[in-house]
Amino acid sequence: REIGITCVAFSGGQPRPGVDLGPEFVLKAGLIGQLNAMDFKTILTDGKEIHDYKEFFPASDEPIGIIKRPRAVGIVSKHLTDQVYQHSKAGRMALQIGGDHSMGLGTVSGIARATKERFGQDIKVIWVDAHADINTPETTETGNLHGMPLSFLIGLVKENIEGLDWVVPCLKPENIVYIGLRDVDKAEKQILKQYNIKAFSMHEIDRYGIGAVMNMTIEYLSKGDTAQSPIHLSFDIDALDPTVAASTGTPVRGGLTFREGHYICEALHETGRLVGIDIVELNPTIGHSNEDTITIGCSLIRAALGESLL
Ligand code: ARG
Ligand code: MN
Ligand code: MN
Ligand code: MN
Repeated sequence: REIGITCVAFSGGQPRPGVDLGPEFVLKAGLIGQLNAMDFKTILTDGKEIHDYKEFFPASDEPIGIIKRPRAVGIVSKHLTDQVYQHSKAGRMALQIGGDHSMGLGTVSGIARATKERFGQDIKVIWVDAHADINTPETTETGNLHGMPLSFLIGLVKENIEGLDWVVPCLKPENIVYIGLRDVDKAEKQILKQYNIKAFSMHEIDRYGIGAVMNMTIEYLSKGDTAQSPIHLSFDIDALDPTVAASTGTPVRGGLTFREGHYICEALHETGRLVGIDIVELNPTIGHSNEDTITIGCSLIRAALGESLL
């Protein structure tokens, strides 16, 4: 019952300042004490509460085409890959708090490597998000790398982008399930179709209910399994409706309720297969009641770690 915690104070995958403060606020809200009260031993990466990786940033980080801050994003995720790998290899739950979603490049890379070595199995990823985050450097309309991690992870990026050339494809398109989508770019829709990627948008959640959606998700991620395969949860707080969690950089209305978000985490905990958790895009400088968003971030984490309602 050990959790390795990495707090990623990074905002370079998108333009709005403040998302780098997410982890600090989550710690201030008492997350570590809450996890200790659940009988977890918490291990901070390198004994440090917050990681900003700034000492590794290049002096200049000019855009490549329209891709913004590729070298900073690359170096953060390169370090994060090793940090997450070390925790996971040691058999710990790897918990990453962000920070913008470009850090998914590092969290999934690290977990995938450890999972291969520990179990000889491919990692499966549940991406809970309003957005698909699967633009390529060619399809992106914004140049923001937080909208692109999955295209790198599944190997869609053929050209070498300076700073990101270390990324090794480590995730199969058939091992991804999206939940909560409602703002998917045109080119991303084509990618989802072309690679036949499983996605439960808000439309499917309305139609079937979150209970059935989670049953289908887990069944989908179990087909062909001989042993139970490990699952990583990457939870972008903007999957929740902005009336529930307002403090985030790219809010989109029509999102998950408080309970739907928590139910996703509870159902994944019940599988006993979770090996990693990201909670990202918490920006305490946005919105009127950032306390709610931060508190919800903490309770989603606890739900994914088995906090029970009864
Ligand atoms: N699809 C848009 C883009 O490529 C928005 C991405 C938002 N991503 C996020 N992690 N909040 O920029
Ligand atoms: Mn995202
Ligand atoms: Mn998002
Ligand atoms: Mn869009």
